[in-house]
Amino acid sequence: KPKQDLAGRKVVITAGPTREKIDPVRYITNHSSGKMGYAIAEEAVAAGAEVTLISGPVSIKAPDGVKLINIESAEEMYHAAMEEYENANIVIKTAAVSDYRPKVCFSQKMKKQPGDEVLELERTKDILFELGQKKKGQILIGFAAETERVDVYAKGKLKKKNADMIVANNVTSEGAGFGTDTNIVTLFKKDGTSEELPLMSKKDVAAKILQEAAILLKDEQK
Ligand code: PMT
Repeated sequence: KPKQDLAGRKVVITAGPTREKIDPVRYITNHSSGKMGYAIAEEAVAAGAEVTLISGPVSIKAPDGVKLINIESAEEMYHAAMEEYENANIVIKTAAVSDYRPKVCFSQKMKKQPGDEVLELERTKDILFELGQKKKGQILIGFAAETERVDVYAKGKLKKKNADMIVANNVTSEGAGFGTDTNIVTLFKKDGTSEELPLMSKKDVAAKILQEAAILLKDEQK
């Protein structure tokens, strides 16, 4: 039986991809299956937490016992995350959020026309950054999906986003990142330490992240 490390704690997890609509039949998205975030949600329930899972469109089933909030776009994820943030003790941002969306969403299927060869994009809100700005005693954990210079980018994100921990995965390594049942991650903590973990199941990575989160929360509340 897992230890009830998070009994009475509220844990908010984001998972899956976002979809940024171009028109009624097309959108921009990424390869996230939701497996990593859903594994964290399942382990958090097992650890006794009250769990809210804010999820983009995925084809896997949400674990029993979570409050599931389905969203599609980065903008919808932003609003759901902000709403759930206030009473949260721990927030874990596993979702692969689109950094860009089409500037205009066409109401009818877009037709190719001379002169509009380029689709204009604009930036979405950086949810992790916004949460970091509003942090009041919550433990904020982000992910970093990188294809190069993982350490540098992960440490940069830790600081810029005012996070307590960044879980970095090099998504080019076999068995890590999108779609797999396993992951290879390094944990970067705000005290400057880091811990490189071997290839593990997403379930075990999830349990490890939550153990660290419970320790960070205890320290925060000292
Ligand atoms: O879902 P799976 O198939 O199991 O795959 C797991 C995963 C690869 C998606 C996961 O392990 C992972 O790395 N998630 C983060 C993916 C990502 O978008 O990384 P990023 O480096 O672009 O973003 C950094 C952090 O900022 C993330 O916590 C992200 O949720 C957050 N972010 C990003 C953009 C944005 N507009 N708002 C955000 O909050």
